[in-house]
Amino acid sequence: MEKGKVLVTGAAGYIGTHTAVKLINAGFGVVVVDNLSNSELSAIEGVREITGREIPFVQADCNDRAALEEVFRAHEFCGVIHFAASKAVGESVEQPLLYYGNNLGSFVTVLELMKEYGVPNIVFSSSATVYGQPDVLPATETTPRKPATSPYGNTKQICEDILRDSVAAYEGLNGIALRYFNPIGAHPSALIGELPKGVPNNLVPFITQTAAGVRECLSIFGDDYNTGDGTALRDYIDVVDLAKAHVVAVERMVGGDMKEQYEIFNIGTGRPVSVLELVRTFEKVNGVAVPYKIVGRRAGDVEAVWADTTLANTELGWKAERSLDETLRSAWKWEKHLRGL
Ligand code: NAD
Ligand code: WQD
Repeated sequence: MEKGKVLVTGAAGYIGTHTAVKLINAGFGVVVVDNLSNSELSAIEGVREITGREIPFVQADCNDRAALEEVFRAHEFCGVIHFAASKAVGESVEQPLLYYGNNLGSFVTVLELMKEYGVPNIVFSSSATVYGQPDVLPATETTPRKPATSPYGNTKQICEDILRDSVAAYEGLNGIALRYFNPIGAHPSALIGELPKGVPNNLVPFITQTAAGVRECLSIFGDDYNTGDGTALRDYIDVVDLAKAHVVAVERMVGGDMKEQYEIFNIGTGRPVSVLELVRTFEKVNGVAVPYKIVGRRAGDVEAVWADTTLANTELGWKAERSLDETLRSAWKWEKHLRGL
């Protein structure tokens, strides 16, 4: 028997597809809403292929209240996972209104409809970007947030606040914000993965495209940081592990196990990895070369950030499981699948 039906917005995207697979495998029904602004229908096909299940898909913008209301009218949801958002940091600096309009507007519309239709639970995709450069590492959930350095980062902080205030005001509404660190990798089947548009901003897609010969050379942004090898430190979380965290969060809400009506969890591995270590590990486990050069620091980058995951480990009973080797193998397998290599 189905455990309940979850509305997953933005589920044609990178993290959403992996989460849809895990939700279905855990026995939840899934309804997908996506406007395909940063994804393709083939991603939903990938989810169907992996799970062997038909997935109701509605192509709609979460800012389109009437279209979204149709979905709330047609289904009884036990919860919502809200992935739908624009996520390119640089683009958000150039087009802040696009980011405020899309990320805040869609979230408010979803919350309004949840309130109207009595849907009690929502998981929100937040980000380690809310911490900026923490004064003390690793970052815990109580580490103070730093002023956002991009409109994108600001939308994550504001959405967290919108969720906190809504939960406080509206009886019966529960919220969990998951602060993802750096999601990487792909499903082991290589049927779903990340589909970056144009030149990738993120490190791992740039590495895989360079290894595939699509890009000539990786630029490593800075080797003069105050870290072991001078390159920046991040907490790279496998996307399949990240997907599982969403299932656990939904189960916690549906099962009535929350300690507070609004909770925040860091979702990372707890292990800092440098850019150079990541590149070398990728080369080693995949047996391919990644030509790189060291260039200046990228504007807006922080030196080091990684998670204290104690809360997610103890409260959610969730822990990152896939090794970095395994994750980087899956990233390469996905790139080869995309390129027909
Ligand atoms: P993605 O771009 O692959 O997925 C987002 C999906 O939302 C896309 O399919 C896009 O078409 C859809 N979408 C965007 N605006 C929409 C709207 N108004 N209505 C309907 N659909 C809409 O991104 P992702 O990496 O899967 O990220 C998912 C969420 O996680 C986002 O909220 C993102 O900000 C957050 N996040 C991502 C990362 C990361 O590094 N990937 C890190 C932290 C947080
Ligand atoms: C990782 C490291 C780069 C590309 C971003 C967003 C954050 C979150 C995750 C959504 C950094 C270095 C990168 C390259 C490089 N997204 N790098 N050469 O910047 O930690 O986080 O994605 O919420 O908000 O800011 O991730 O993958 O871009 O970079 O040297 O070509 O790799 O300088 O140290 P980042 P990233």
